[in-house]
Amino acid sequence: MTKDNLRLELTGDGSFTFFSPEFGETFHSHHGARQEAELKFVEPTQLRVTAHKPVVRLLDVCYGLGYNTAAAIAAIWEVNPDCKVDWVGLELDPDVAKQAIAHHLLAQWPPPLPELLGELVENQVLQTKNITARLLVGDARQTIEQVVASGFKADAIFLDPFSPPKCPQLWTVEFLGLVAQCLGSTGRLATYSCSAAVRVALMAAGLRVGSTPPVGRRSPGTVASFMDNGLPPLSQQELEHLQTRAAIPYRDPNLCDEAAAIVHRRQIEQQASALEPTGIWKKRHQLPLSTW
Ligand SMILES: C[S@@+](CC[C@H](N)C(=O)[O-])C[C@H]1O[C@@H](n2cnc3c(N)ncnc32)[C@H](O)[C@@H]1O
Repeated sequence: MTKDNLRLELTGDGSFTFFSPEFGETFHSHHGARQEAELKFVEPTQLRVTAHKPVVRLLDVCYGLGYNTAAAIAAIWEVNPDCKVDWVGLELDPDVAKQAIAHHLLAQWPPPLPELLGELVENQVLQTKNITARLLVGDARQTIEQVVASGFKADAIFLDPFSPPKCPQLWTVEFLGLVAQCLGSTGRLATYSCSAAVRVALMAAGLRVGSTPPVGRRSPGTVASFMDNGLPPLSQQELEHLQTRAAIPYRDPNLCDEAAAIVHRRQIEQQASALEPTGIWKKRHQLPLSTW
């Protein structure tokens, strides 16, 4: 066990992640932490294409161990070593990233990334010839307001909180509405989640949503953008999912409710809903009750 109860866990691709006793979840898919960063976040946001621009702007919602950011910057500099990265990250607990550095978990990405991200985590700011970075520490529901106010418009947003039932605060209509305000007109937002509630909340923010291929598990992820620019379309099954009670989004009107209150509010709305019960949709598509 590391300090503060973060337990190291080996994942299917040989990379490590932590388990959070507080949220009762690992920080990454057990099929592969590094693979998840690459296939659920870097690939869907098409960063190897965007890397040809002189400046690429990234917003990392839930920096955690820093894997999504490390994988993204490595991909960008692999294609275009001169690309300038303008980066903002949001994280409640910077000790997670400090633990990742202490365990040398970022050493799987090429130099100078481990050193640069170490400096970022230590100082919460980083300024070099090719990177400008600010790590905003605190509840993302508050820190996102600073990003909106600064006019930051991202080419790519990584949306990577713990799962909606465990951390509903960061999947609500209100929070995702603010996150969407930080996405550029041609930018892409990616998340591992295929939750109908999350997709509907992204759509309520004016985004179109597409599906990213499943990685090591049955369910796909989600990629969203203000433009239809080649978003992989949702399947018929996924479209029908958006018409079920699972699609009732989480709400947090004043962006300050506890997780339990947000979950309870949604349950009340679901009970009163005339939408199809999600179990019937699952049965129609022969899906195990435990997934989706
Ligand atoms: C699934 S992990 C993120 C993994 C990370 N993206 C990576 O690549 O290593 C979720 C993170 O959300 C953070 N978190 C939880 N609640 C938060 C909140 N209200 N605001 C900001 N961050 C939060 C946790 O501390 C944790 O680091």
